[in-house]
This record gives sequence, C-alpha cells and structure tokens, in this order.
Amino acid sequence: MSAEKSFYLTTPIYYVNDAPHIGHAYTTVAGDVLTRWHRQRGESVWFLTGTDEHGEKVMNTAASNNVKPQDWCDRLVEEAWKPNWSALNIANDDFIRTTEKRHEERVQRFMTLLKDNGYIYAGKFEGPYCIGCEEFKLPGDLDEGKCKIHGKPVEMLSEDNWFFKLSAFVPQLLEYYKNNPEACEPASARNEVIAFLESGVRDLSISRSTFDWGIPVPWDTDQVVYVWFDALLNYATAVGLGDDPNSEGGKKFAKTWPADVHLVGKDILRFHAVIWPAMLMAANVAIPKKVFAHGWLLVGGEKMSKSKLTGIAPSDITDHFGVDAFRYYFLRSIPFGTDGSFSWEDMVARYTSELANDFGNLASRSIAMIEKYCEGKIPQPAAEPKLAEAAQKACEIADERICALDFQGGILAILDFCKVVNGYVTDQAPWVLAKDTANKVELEKVLYTTVESLRILAVLFHPVMPETSEKLWDALGAKILGPIGDQKISEVATWGQLPAGVQVSRGEVLFPRLPEPESA
Ligand code: MSP
Repeated sequence: MSAEKSFYLTTPIYYVNDAPHIGHAYTTVAGDVLTRWHRQRGESVWFLTGTDEHGEKVMNTAASNNVKPQDWCDRLVEEAWKPNWSALNIANDDFIRTTEKRHEERVQRFMTLLKDNGYIYAGKFEGPYCIGCEEFKLPGDLDEGKCKIHGKPVEMLSEDNWFFKLSAFVPQLLEYYKNNPEACEPASARNEVIAFLESGVRDLSISRSTFDWGIPVPWDTDQVVYVWFDALLNYATAVGLGDDPNSEGGKKFAKTWPADVHLVGKDILRFHAVIWPAMLMAANVAIPKKVFAHGWLLVGGEKMSKSKLTGIAPSDITDHFGVDAFRYYFLRSIPFGTDGSFSWEDMVARYTSELANDFGNLASRSIAMIEKYCEGKIPQPAAEPKLAEAAQKACEIADERICALDFQGGILAILDFCKVVNGYVTDQAPWVLAKDTANKVELEKVLYTTVESLRILAVLFHPVMPETSEKLWDALGAKILGPIGDQKISEVATWGQLPAGVQVSRGEVLFPRLPEPESA
C-alpha cells in the first residue's frame, strides 16, 4: 500500500437547524483555500465537511416546523447546505452527516471500546444545559439564569447519565500542549486551553435520556449519545475509525489519520482541544496534529449569528461581488485567528482597488497590448531577472504563510508581486515603446514579462479565487501547460514557461464594475 499520508483537513460539522450564513462560509472557505493550496503543492489531500444533525436543537427546530427530524435534516442538507458549498466552489472530498449509518455504527463501536477500557461510568447529572450551545453549563457560565452566549434561559437537567472520565486526561493534555505548541493555535487559543485545563476539569455527561433524537448508547438504548460526543467523532468515523486495518475503511484511516488540521471557530475550541483529544486518548488513537481556532465575524460588535438575527447569507454578498471576491475578502482583510467586522464599504473599496484595478486591469491591459502589438501571440520568452526574483520571493512567502494558516500574509505577498508587475508596466511604458519599430525587441520583452508574471499570479491566486484564475489561465492561452490546478507551487516561479506563439484571448472582464447598490 502506498505509504504517503494525506494532508487531512476538517471543518466543523454544522448544525442543520438553519441555513448557512457567512460565519459558516468563512471557516469552510478557509479550509478550501488551504486544501487547494496543499493540492497545488503536489500533496495527497483529504478535505471533509458535513452536518451535525442530532441533539435537542435540531429536534426542536424540526418540531416547530412540524417535520420529523430526519426529514428536516434531509431537506436542509439537500436544499441549503450542499448547494451553498457548491455555489462557493468548495472542493470537499467527502461530506459526512451524523445520521449516516457509517457514522452511527462507528460511534457505537467507539462507545463500547471506551466503556471496555474503563472510561465510562454511570452517574447523575444535575445542572443547567444550554440547547443553543448543546452544552452542560457551570453556574459561572450564566448571567441571571441565561446562557451568556445565546442570551436565552437554560434548561435545568436532573438525569441519570453515562459519564466520561474526562478529568483523568488533564495531566496528559497539559503536558501535550506545553510540549507541542503547534497542536493548538493561535497562541491565544492555546493559552485559553491551558488555563481551562489548569482550572480543574470535571467528568463529562455523555448521554441524554429525556429525548431520543440521537445515536442509542449501545448497552443502554434508553439513552442517546450526547450530541457533542457523537459530533466530534465524525472526523474519525468519516475515514474509517476502528475498521479492520485490511478493510477499505482501515486503509483509508491509515492514510488520513491523525488529522492535520481541525479548523474551528473559537466558540468551539474547548470541545476540540480538550474533550476530543481526551476521547481519542481513552481509545488509544492518535490525536490530531493541530486545532486552529479562528476569530468571529462580528456584526455591530457582536458575533454574527442567525439566532440574534444578524446572520448574513453568503448569497447576499456573492450576488453583488461574485463568489471569488467573497472567498478573497474575508481571508484578505481579517488576520486569521482574530475577530473582524464585516463592512460593505470596506469590501467595495478592496474589490475596486485590489481586485478590479491592481489585478483585473493588469490582466486586461496586458492581453490587449499583446493583441495590439503582437498579433495576439505570446512573444519570445525573455529573461527579466528582477521580476523573476520578485515572483520567486512571492511564491516562497505565500507558501510559508499559507501553510502556517496566515492567509492574509500569503495573499499580501501575492498582491505585492502584483504591484511590482504594475510598477514595471508603468515604468517600461510599452505603449511608448510601440511608437518606434526600433524598440520591437524591447517591447516584446516587456510584454512577455508581463504575461509571464500573470501566469504566475493566476496560479498563486487559484486556491483563493479558482474561477477567476481559470478564466485568466484560458485568456493567456496557458492551457497548453496543462490544467491550472495541476501547476505546482514549487515550480510556478520558474521563469519562461509560456511558450512563444500561443494565442491569447481577451475573454470576460475578471472583476466587472460593481452594480450600483440598490436604494432602500
Ligand atoms: N455542530 C457544532 C460543531 C460540531 S464540530 C464536531 C457547531 N455548529 S455551528 O453550526 O454552530 O457552527 C459553528 C461554527 O461555524 C464555528 O465554530 C465557526 O466555524 C462557524 N461560525 C459560526 N458563526 C461564526 C461567526 N460569526 N464568525 C466566524 N465563524 C463562525 O458548533
């Protein structure tokens, strides 16, 4: 069997109580950009997203719509979630739903293993529970009886449940994070996790008995598995957790596990950096290499959310700016790991200056000049060490930054190169050179340099803006080099790849003028 391990990245699996908003899209686009980047590094990649379908929150939403929970989930997944991801050009390799048999069976097997290993015991849970968070709360998590996050009253539970010996793993987890700082990023997230672990962690109730929308506990079918215990396991059940090593699932598991990055919002950091690795430790399964908690998209200074009626649908933005500008904007404008506010004005400004002017106009002007001065054919390759060096540097920085999940830093390196190319065109003024036939060689060199730089820009921007980069690739006649998705980051800066004589074509404008905002 081929031993190469895949770069395995996951997004959270989202609750299907509602349709996706731009907060969900933020995480999934980031995951898509990172996995596309790794694919273009020539790595084997596995990218998983999906939906979290059990629990009281989804069950109550289905009930209030007079639909059975399964029917509700099927409808939301097929009509809202999957179409949303394909509209945003998300290239996930798999989509897991927690109501699938492959998940339920492996969860039950895992529960049995944990019980056999002595980490599950019977107990009584008494205390508050927030259905919005699907979380057992401590009195300190409440403000006048309401969950601090959702601002809604909590349920008071008193149930006989099954408990997981979470507290037994605290010393091991602390040691792990102290010795492996890269396992939880950014540093603020790691510090939060360490402080939480040091503050004393209680065992966790992992079953519920007062409703049945969940996976039955295998040895006590009056109870269902706690929705977070069920949900966290998706990352491993989707790739064959616990299957015979010689089976298809077992082989997939060997090729993907442990996950390289669990991408999450900071709201669900503790579940991923405390409960999840402890569950795996209890089963003697390797723990993920990294949990990265990004910040929140804020509206009016608060976390944007549907429940607070501040949720913005991705289509509200893509209808106006296009899909690629949406994919670009949030990663470009907010340092990954910190909170950021969405502002329509800022998005208009960046669209116009960075995308339409710096990138789009460079492409259309350059191609138009090749049409005008070179009969639409790429001129002879010519060396231009200054630009070739700038391209090489941009590739190296972008690669280093994006692999470190600093999307903003990576995009800025690419934009800087774009600025260098614009500066070069302005300095060389090919339209002036074109006035005298004696400058033909010089003119062709300048134009070759410009389109060769555009080839590099198309490849570097491809993970962020796949559709636009493909259009540019076609316009440059670069298909002759193979599909853009096959271009390797490590080779892209090698100068002189566009061959002479290839026909360019102007094609569509990459970033059209924005429509006037509708007046209220
Ligand atoms: N179902 C759980 C996750 C289980 S993972 C094993 C859940 N679902 S959720 O639908 O509430 O999605 C939460 C995630 O959506 C966040 O962690 C984050 O990735 C994304 N976001 C939701 N709102 C967001 C913002 N306002 N800003 C940024 N990301 C946001 O929790």
